[in-house]
Amino acid sequence: MAGNGVFGEIIDGDVFKYYADGEWKKSSSGKSVSIINPTTRKVQYKVQACTQEEVNKVMEIAKVAQKAWAKTPLWKRAELLHKAAAILKEHKAPIGECLVKEIAKPAKDSVTEVVRSGDLVSYCAEEGVRLLGQGTFLVSDSFPGNERTKYCLSSKIPLGVVLAIPPFNYPVNLAVSKIGPALIAGNSLVLKPPTQGAVACLHMVHCFHLAGFPKGLISCITGKGSEIGDFLTMHPGVNCISFTGGDTGIAISKKAGMIPLQMELGGKDACIVLEDADLDLVASNIIKGGFSYSGQRCTAVKVVLVMESVADTLVEKVKTKVAKLTVGPPEDNCDITPVVSESSANFIEGLVNDAKQKGATFCQEYKRDGNLIWPLLLDNVRPDMRIAWEEPFGPVLPVIRIGSIEEGIHHCNASNFGLQGCVFTKDINKAMLISDAMETGTVQINSAPARGPDHFPFQGLKDSGIGSQGITNSINMMTKVKSTVINLPTPSYTMG
Ligand code: G3P
Repeated sequence: MAGNGVFGEIIDGDVFKYYADGEWKKSSSGKSVSIINPTTRKVQYKVQACTQEEVNKVMEIAKVAQKAWAKTPLWKRAELLHKAAAILKEHKAPIGECLVKEIAKPAKDSVTEVVRSGDLVSYCAEEGVRLLGQGTFLVSDSFPGNERTKYCLSSKIPLGVVLAIPPFNYPVNLAVSKIGPALIAGNSLVLKPPTQGAVACLHMVHCFHLAGFPKGLISCITGKGSEIGDFLTMHPGVNCISFTGGDTGIAISKKAGMIPLQMELGGKDACIVLEDADLDLVASNIIKGGFSYSGQRCTAVKVVLVMESVADTLVEKVKTKVAKLTVGPPEDNCDITPVVSESSANFIEGLVNDAKQKGATFCQEYKRDGNLIWPLLLDNVRPDMRIAWEEPFGPVLPVIRIGSIEEGIHHCNASNFGLQGCVFTKDINKAMLISDAMETGTVQINSAPARGPDHFPFQGLKDSGIGSQGITNSINMMTKVKSTVINLPTPSYTMG
């Protein structure tokens, strides 16, 4: 159970503590923030409402801790990360339980998220020792007009303090996708978890604590966005922000100083289906891509663009599969579980009502009970409907029938998002042409969009983000290049 056993020290009464300077602490505010269970719609947990003063303190400590950490041998950093990964996986059950209660993620998927996170941390350690264990050596005589009098030694060095802000849908996994690269690269890390998902994050951070990382290197500060959100992102002590979430990221990028930013801000991933596609494969991928975790994934299939001639058959196949999806509480491992909040459910309902008014075909009856929304496929969606462009972040999927490939590409590219997309066809040449034409960070051929495996590059174009993620790219992003140039009095040529 949450806050029990080895996790006993992270809770005080019924309020979870925050983590700073290697210790679990109560906020001086004396206030807490409640976390509502999406299924019961009752308060499940409480976390500390930290103050700006506490943010200042954490930043100060993080700065000092980073200097010592940067002098810690790479193999030692990796060793600690491997240890944390093992502890994290050992405690997959209680952490998974937090995810079930805070974000209504199906129980099995919640545990998978923790295991995937442990694997990600280990991979960061392995990738980091290789990537950061080498630099470049340049000689001056390759540039016109120079003799070989200069040797340039370049290596990757840490940025300083990395601020990590993960979203509610993968609070643990998308936190460690920032923590792992930051730490192996020699940075310190301040984590601001999402309110829903905060308790799972606090448990995850305790695993790093148990692994024995130095005091102050990792901090986890909880609280109201209105009180500490801007204060954190605009803090002069922050040297890099890695953020995953919605369009708040655009606001952050406007306010942040001259520091590297890594952002993933959602998508409206299109699934283009050609006439020669294997429609059974497409239907299974639409179900997996559109309805896993009730559609609350940035990389969910969010619009199907299908050639008119195969649309009836495809819609029938998807309808049959939708009918088989189980709907209910996350504890029962249902496929469709309550969406994260009432406001999210209301937003989804708004999109559904708009589509109804404008004449979309409802393949199922719209049904909602509290935050639980039954899976819904909307056929004959047209570009004048909001659902054609907006991200529902729920189990509602629009189908737009297209008359040509160009029409599909045009719809995909007219979106302000550009995260991923997918194309289904047996013709690899056509697939490549379509992939090249789609303005998205990744195109999947014959499979639904997905971020993983976690070492693959992951990036969004346009409003979907800045920079590229994936383990290697994140490590690179969380470092800067430093050169030392050795100047020789006379040219020197290395002889064999
Ligand atoms: O929604 C966040 C995004 O990173 C999705 O990840 O693993 O579901 O493709 P994944």
